[in-house]
Amino acid sequence: MLVSEISRDERRDRFHYLLESGLNVVLLAETDGRLVGELTLALGNPNPTQIGFGVHPQWRRRGVGRMLLGHAIAWADANGIHKLSAEVMSHNAAALALLGEFGFVEEGYLVNQFRRKAGGANDAVLLARTAA
Ligand SMILES: CC(C)(COP(=O)(O)OP(=O)(O)OC[C@H]1O[C@@H](n2cnc3c(N)ncnc32)[C@H](O)[C@@H]1OP(=O)(O)O)[C@@H](O)C(=O)NCCC(=O)NCCS
Repeated sequence: MLVSEISRDERRDRFHYLLESGLNVVLLAETDGRLVGELTLALGNPNPTQIGFGVHPQWRRRGVGRMLLGHAIAWADANGIHKLSAEVMSHNAAALALLGEFGFVEEGYLVNQFRRKAGGANDAVLLARTAA
């Protein structure tokens, strides 16, 4: 399970939906047959293509996120994607730093964007990267 508030069944259902819709590209990072990270590009022509990604907690800080994002940008550039965007919780220092490294810049601040199961909602930062 990559994200603590999402159950394994929910995650499996989401993957099936993503893969069957034909509107998404999913990059997987695995080692010894174990999934350690994933990145989804939700294709958005003519809107920006939105990305979301996660690395298994035990595999963080070993370059998996950087590798996934690098491949995603290469794929986007090779396929004529004009703009990538990501919504990241405002307190998510890791994702903000990683996206900034790849040229994503802040375009907006989204209040109460992500509902929490425990109640309430988290603010998010909208980041984007326009192709050269
Ligand atoms: C964000 C996330 C994907 C990073 O994955 P990762 O594999 O640990 O990242 P990397 O090892 O490739 O790190 C690349 C760079 O990101 C930054 N970074 C990563 N983790 C960080 C942390 N905890 N604090 C600050 N910066 C961090 C650093 O600049 C790092 O470079 P360095 O290790 O050379 O200093 C991972 O923390 C994660 O899955 N978080 C939960 C899900 C999430 O936040 N998804 C993104 C929003 S859609």
